[in-house]
Amino acid sequence: MISSRERRLGLVHPQASDITPRAVFEQRRALMQRMAAGGAGAVLASWAARDARAQVAATVAPGQLPALKSVRSSLAGALASDTATPHKLVTTYNNYYEFGTEKADPARRAHTLKTEPWTVSIEGEVRKPMKLDLDALLKLAPMEERIYRMRCVEGWSMVIPWIGWSMADLIRKVEPTGNAKFVEFTTLADPAQMPGLRSRVLDWPYVEGLRLDEAMNPLTMMAFGLYGEVLPKQNGAPLRLVVPWKYGFKSGKSIVRIRFTEKQPATSWNVAAAREYGFYSNVNPKVDHPRWSQATERRIGDDGLLQRRRPTLMFNGYEAQVGQLYAGMDLAKFY
Ligand code: MTE
Repeated sequence: MISSRERRLGLVHPQASDITPRAVFEQRRALMQRMAAGGAGAVLASWAARDARAQVAATVAPGQLPALKSVRSSLAGALASDTATPHKLVTTYNNYYEFGTEKADPARRAHTLKTEPWTVSIEGEVRKPMKLDLDALLKLAPMEERIYRMRCVEGWSMVIPWIGWSMADLIRKVEPTGNAKFVEFTTLADPAQMPGLRSRVLDWPYVEGLRLDEAMNPLTMMAFGLYGEVLPKQNGAPLRLVVPWKYGFKSGKSIVRIRFTEKQPATSWNVAAAREYGFYSNVNPKVDHPRWSQATERRIGDDGLLQRRRPTLMFNGYEAQVGQLYAGMDLAKFY
C-alpha cells in the first residue's frame, strides 16, 4: 500500500488505467469503429494498423522511432519529483557486462554489436512457436512511449522515456499452453562481437526470467527505442525487456530467445550469487542486499544537488499496478 509519507512527498504513481495512454486507446477505438462500419474482420484490422504504421515510418528520419506520445505528459505530471534523466547519461552510464564491467565500457565498445539481421525465437510451452525478424517485431503492436523509473540493484536510478509495446501483446500471439508458468529471456552471447564475454563474471549467455503473470502485466515492456530514437546498442539494441518494478538486471538486453517453461528458469545473477540476487528481485526498500542497504537510491544526474539520496519506493513506486501479483507472499523470503 502507498504510505502516507509517499503521499505527502507526492510520490504516488498513476493507476493502471493511466498506463494505456489516451491516444493509444482512442486510436484503437477509432480503428475498431471503422472496422465495425465496414464489416471488416480482425485480420483486416491488423493490416490496417500495419499500413498506418508503415505510413508513419515512411516519413521519419533514419535512426528515429515514431511512437504515440501521450504517456510522457501524464507520467511527468503525476510524479512531481521525477524528471527524465538526460539522454547523455542514459546512454553513457550503463551496465552491459558483455561489453565490460565499467559503466563507460558499453558506450565505448558496443559499436561492434551487429543488430541486423536479428531474429528472436519464441519457443517452449506455446501453441504457436515462431521465429520473428526485427521487422515483424517492430510491427507486432503499436509503439508507445512510456516514461519509467529504473532502479539498479546497485543503488542508483534513472527516469527513461522508452519506446516499445507491452510484452502481453507478444504473449497473446504465441498462445501459451496450460503448462506455461514462467518466461525465460536469453540474450545474445557472441564472442566475436562482445569483448566482455572473455571475463567469466557471469556464466554466459545472460539469462533472465519472469513468472508468466509478471510478464503479462501491462507495465512489462519490450523496448526498441528511447528518447524518440532507435535503441542505442549500449542500452540493449535491437530489443530489450523493461520491467520497471524490478531491479534493472531483470531487464535483459539484446534478446534472442524467449522460452515459456513450466519450471522456474535458472537466471544468470541468481546462479552467480543466489544470496544476493533472487529470482523475483522486486524493488523493495525493506529487503537489503547482503552488502548494502536498499532503503535509498542515488538518482543519476542529481549529483549537483548536494548528492542527496532519495527514498526507494516499494515496487519502485508501481505498487498500485503490481502489488496484487505478490499478495500473501513473504517478500523477504522470495527476494
Ligand atoms: N542485459 C545484459 N544482456 N547484460 C547485462 O550486463 N545488465 C542489467 C540489465 N540488462 C545487463 C543486462 C543491469 S544490472 C541493468 S541495471 C540494466 O540492464 C541497465 O540498463 P541500461 O544500461 O540501459 O540503463
